[in-house]
Amino acid sequence: MVKFHKLKVADIRRETADCVSVALEVPASLKEAYKFIQGQYLTLKFFVNGEEIRRSYSICSGIHENEMRVAVKKVQGGKGSNFINDNLKSGNEIEVMTPMGSFHSPMNTSHRKNYVLFAGGSGITPLLSILKTVLQTEPQSTLILFYGNLNEESTIFKKQLDELSQKNSARFNLHYIFDKPASPSEDIYKGIITKEKAKTLFDKHISPDADNEFFICGPKPMMDNVRETLEEKKIDQAIIHVEYFTSSIDAPDNPVSPSEKVIAQVTVVQYGKETTFELSSGGKAILDAAIDAGVDAPFACKGAVCATCRGKVLEGKVHMNKNFALTDTEVAEGFILTCQSHPITPVVKVDYDV
Ligand code: FES
Repeated sequence: MVKFHKLKVADIRRETADCVSVALEVPASLKEAYKFIQGQYLTLKFFVNGEEIRRSYSICSGIHENEMRVAVKKVQGGKGSNFINDNLKSGNEIEVMTPMGSFHSPMNTSHRKNYVLFAGGSGITPLLSILKTVLQTEPQSTLILFYGNLNEESTIFKKQLDELSQKNSARFNLHYIFDKPASPSEDIYKGIITKEKAKTLFDKHISPDADNEFFICGPKPMMDNVRETLEEKKIDQAIIHVEYFTSSIDAPDNPVSPSEKVIAQVTVVQYGKETTFELSSGGKAILDAAIDAGVDAPFACKGAVCATCRGKVLEGKVHMNKNFALTDTEVAEGFILTCQSHPITPVVKVDYDV
């Protein structure tokens, strides 16, 4: 069950001019609750000028490292990322939700996989966690990282990645793609990751017959380019993992159609307690209505990206406006993003405890 706890900031490290990484101290009593899987994220809750802010940031530590660290890149006008970059200090306390996210695949020491990672900008954060975990956990697996940035200077974790690739040169191939490189580089590693470039990189570096597992995280256009390329290459969807973040998404809403509109009795279950309220399909999302009804429902992005608000439909049906976080399997099992969900049957029951 996801829950917020107050954690102390153990260390803040400047990674680039506009990005810091923040290590959080986990007391012995909460070690189990904060045991994370590579590629997961934390939701932080704090106040800026009296306004409550919740933001999700990916963990960049490997699961074997004795540290839980997230990276936070400044977003223009972003209240949360600017506060963390400019004001948060070591020793401060901050509310942190227990780890969430499904941007991972199972690890096994006997695996002989080839992990293909496509990162853009701060999208490197969960991929660094995956990369370090694979290097440590699967001695026979290999990795290749394509990492797009403006230039060398703006590349988050560059020093760490260079060291990892030198130390593991037989297993880890690192390719930077700079839009405006400071030093000369081949055309294939210059510019942005367009569909054409993704295809060229694939043809040059990836064997389609290997036991590949693909992970993509970065700005939405880059992710779409890579994803479409993999689709054209007929790569099985089951081995393509994507992680969006809110600032990269600008997708149209898909509201409830007029023919589906109802006034519903919605019941939400949290910590075993049921709360029932009336809700129109054309009104607020189930998450917001639940909060209005006094439920301490979990949320972070409210943008269909983080899945913090995930619940399971036990009765009735809902319509989700958007979904960038749940897999098709999860949706088929009845999971929903409550921040995007509206009832479309007269009775709906949603469980936050699953
Ligand atoms: S709060 Fe992030 S997906 Fe709903």
